[in-house]
Amino acid sequence: MALFEIIYTSLARESTHVEDVANILASSETNNRALAITGLLLCDGDRYIQILEGEQKDIELLFDTISQDIRHDNLELLHKGEILDRSFENWRMAYETMPKGLLADLAETMGVFSLELDGEPLGRGESFGAKLNGLFMDAIAAE
Ligand SMILES: Cc1cc2nc3c(=O)[nH]c(=O)nc-3n(C[C@H](O)[C@H](O)[C@H](O)COP(=O)(O)O)c2cc1C
Repeated sequence: MALFEIIYTSLARESTHVEDVANILASSETNNRALAITGLLLCDGDRYIQILEGEQKDIELLFDTISQDIRHDNLELLHKGEILDRSFENWRMAYETMPKGLLADLAETMGVFSLELDGEPLGRGESFGAKLNGLFMDAIAAE
């Protein structure tokens, strides 16, 4: 069955986002493992960007649940579509804190890139996941 990815951005509930992230990651560890969902969550204190990878129906259902979560709002879908490979296959939900303000620019770049795509599934090295994976690895290396 085809693999699918969803990438979105949202505004974090600022006052409690550190605590929120810890709880979100705890839920993800259990739920994403059970559904073979992988991905990455980035937060810069103002904004989240998340990528979810897995079976289409599982991903869409989880995205629906996440959309209704009061810990964030102003959700904006940046991209969804088929992928050939996972970019976060070893992570239930990888997480990284980013410098403040960085994610607004990244979300805009990704939104534009998505519009330019023609529904084609992207391979490793080209996908949104791969771009976010590069960013994630750079952030880890800089720690
Ligand atoms: C930014 C954000 C990302 C989230 N990511 C996930 C996720 O990857 N997996 C997950 O199960 N829940 C995620 N959640 C939490 C869900 O909205 C929901 O609270 C959770 O799935 C409920 O499951 P639980 O009752 O087992 O905690 C996320 C919430 C937010 C605000």
